[in-house]
Amino acid sequence: MTTGTGFDIRRIGGRIGAEILGVDLSADLDPAVVTEINSALLEHKALVFRDQQLDDAGQLRFASLFGELTAAHPTVASVEGRPQILPVDGEEGIRANQWHTDVTFVRTPPKASTLRSIVVPPYGGNTLIANSAAAYRDLPDPLRELADRLWAVHTNDYDYAAPRNEKAAEYRRRFVSRTYRTAHPVVRVHPETGERGLFIGGFAQTLVGLGSSDSRDLLRILQSYVTRPENIVRVTWTPGDLVLFDNRITQHYAPDDYGDLPRLLHRVTVAGDVPAGVDGSRSYIVEGDDASDYTPVAAA
Ligand code: SIN
Repeated sequence: MTTGTGFDIRRIGGRIGAEILGVDLSADLDPAVVTEINSALLEHKALVFRDQQLDDAGQLRFASLFGELTAAHPTVASVEGRPQILPVDGEEGIRANQWHTDVTFVRTPPKASTLRSIVVPPYGGNTLIANSAAAYRDLPDPLRELADRLWAVHTNDYDYAAPRNEKAAEYRRRFVSRTYRTAHPVVRVHPETGERGLFIGGFAQTLVGLGSSDSRDLLRILQSYVTRPENIVRVTWTPGDLVLFDNRITQHYAPDDYGDLPRLLHRVTVAGDVPAGVDGSRSYIVEGDDASDYTPVAAA
């Protein structure tokens, strides 16, 4: 499909994902183009811009077209001299092979994430992105009605995997150096589209009012709808690509399938609002601060 401002949108997945062709992200983008990219983001949830060859400054400039930026991460160090860029470096043990939505352990998780590929292994090292609104729609009625009423506590402090080496162990120590626990609605209403999506993923560890065993079982069932193959797009990287995804209504996963080969992406995230559930109630902090040194706390 060709948009009014003249770029092409080519779907790359049945339920999520599109490639954007004919836009040079290093150029000064006309506001009308940015509006159309945002509309495409709301519809397709994950957009792939091939062979852009942006540098750090270009990625920051592009991401900031969608709103104020967050710091790189609440606990993990940024790229040297670039406080808003998170290095996603396989050699540093940063292997996000756990389904998650970025930084949901704080009250205002990012609205959108950009990932830019710098070093890509010759095989593997893809990123999978899932449509959590499609997952919500797939739920049978009784499960959907239950999910609408549930809240989950998200935290950065949990034992998701045994670190594969000392670098990964050090990364994990930094990751949990400050504990955050935040309660979010299991079903989040998208602030721009009104669409409902399952807002869970790896940081969601317990359900409010339920014990750990019931929480685990219910979260596993709900999560299985997010990770159905129908709801996923797989992005195969080449150096210089940029992916923009809507962090309010997706989850992602980076398979750890490239051994010791180098893989480096840079991530820049756009600040988000306080999530709201189907009855309009907003997320609240259970432990930790409001992460205001990480993200401008958007008005609720
Ligand atoms: C991330 O979770 O932000 C990183 C995803 C990736 O490594 O592809």
